Amino acid sequence: MQINIEQVVLEVIEGDITRWQGDYIVNAANSGLYGGGGVDGAIHRAGGRRIAEECAVIRQKQGHVLPGDAALTTAGSLPFRGIIHTVGPIWKGGSANETAILAKCYSTSLTLACQQGARSIAFPNIGTGVYNFPKLAAAQTAVTSVIQFIRESGPAMPLKLIAFVCFEQDNAEIYRELLQR
Ligand code: APR
Repeated sequence: MQINIEQVVLEVIEGDITRWQGDYIVNAANSGLYGGGGVDGAIHRAGGRRIAEECAVIRQKQGHVLPGDAALTTAGSLPFRGIIHTVGPIWKGGSANETAILAKCYSTSLTLACQQGARSIAFPNIGTGVYNFPKLAAAQTAVTSVIQFIRESGPAMPLKLIAFVCFEQDNAEIYRELLQR
């Protein structure tokens, strides 16, 4: 399912983000960039140990990545131009700035992608697995942040395709419904 916002295609796909085709994929990482389960585990497994080695270099150079921030590595053996590792908020009931942090994950990742001249990027449903962010609220935040970024960036923005890759069917349905509105 696709919609257009000011010359940019927003797409909802159901599946494994490591199988997507495009320039950059976003990882839902932890602050230490140590790798983990969920989408993080899938990306590290599929891309090989070079990704973990690059994450270790980032950790040594700049310390932990704060929630809402992002760091860039190559994609190892995956066929992407790179991987943007962003750190979502751990859901603590909603009063710990979780929504603003999640929104920042999307805007920071998009900024980083644009700095690299990316034409396409795919996001997983950041925060909605191990970190327990409620799915509907997370999707609303994701869609709102992405659309706001597109509107603020204007036509000079290199990104032409932004995909939401949903591993779970219920998330895909939530995104389709939100984008259809
Ligand atoms: N492709 C796309 N999405 C996936 C994949 C995959 N291969 N595998 C899992 N997902 C989905 C999950 O179904 C969920 O909707 O990614 C979403 C985010 O879930 P998590 O990966 O658990 O990420 P998050 O909730 O942000 O928690 C991050 O989990 O794996 C650890 O190291 C990671 O500590 C960090 C934490």
